[in-house]
Amino acid sequence: MRAIRLGILGSGSGSNFQALHDAIVAGTLEAEIALVMSDNSSAALLHRARESGIKHAVIDCRGFSTKFPIEAQHEVAQALREAGVDLVCLAGFMRLIKAPLLDAFPNKIINVHPSLLPAFPGLEAWKQALDEKAPETGCTVHFVDSGMDTGTPILQAKVPVLENDSYTSLHARIQEQEHLIYPQAVCTLARKLLA
Ligand code: GAR
Repeated sequence: MRAIRLGILGSGSGSNFQALHDAIVAGTLEAEIALVMSDNSSAALLHRARESGIKHAVIDCRGFSTKFPIEAQHEVAQALREAGVDLVCLAGFMRLIKAPLLDAFPNKIINVHPSLLPAFPGLEAWKQALDEKAPETGCTVHFVDSGMDTGTPILQAKVPVLENDSYTSLHARIQEQEHLIYPQAVCTLARKLLA
């Protein structure tokens, strides 16, 4: 089986990109990161990609702070296709994906979200869990559809909410689990997609 080619889209620190890259380097994930793209030109994610010698690019969102313009989605789809990407992994990408990109990669876009979906979709899910005094939360790798964090779950990990948890401590423990399940989920999908 050949290595699956990944495209990674993110907006922030890129720790999930790092987890995927580290799993590849460690030999636990047979994959190649073909392209990293970010809507944030100062994202640490881009710095990490540069340091790792991985092709990377900034997405031109035409000055919109949250919207993902249709033209930009076409451009991303084309760049991912040109890079020969098989599977698109969202890693902290904070814009909603719509038809042009979803149609270019049907059932081949996945995301990692910091809650046990369907609980706590949307922004800063760890804050939602703590504010609602949930006894446990976690993270979910799921297929991306046109809704916000509504696609079919692929893999989940539970994280207990501790009595003395702060937003920061809870998010950190959720991220530890994200870094384990994201490479595992990609590994499982790779076997199916390339079979
Ligand atoms: C992760 O915790 C991820 O679950 C979250 O953004 C963070 C990105 O971290 N994504 C969402 O909330 C998407 N709804 P990273 O840039 O260090 O990978």
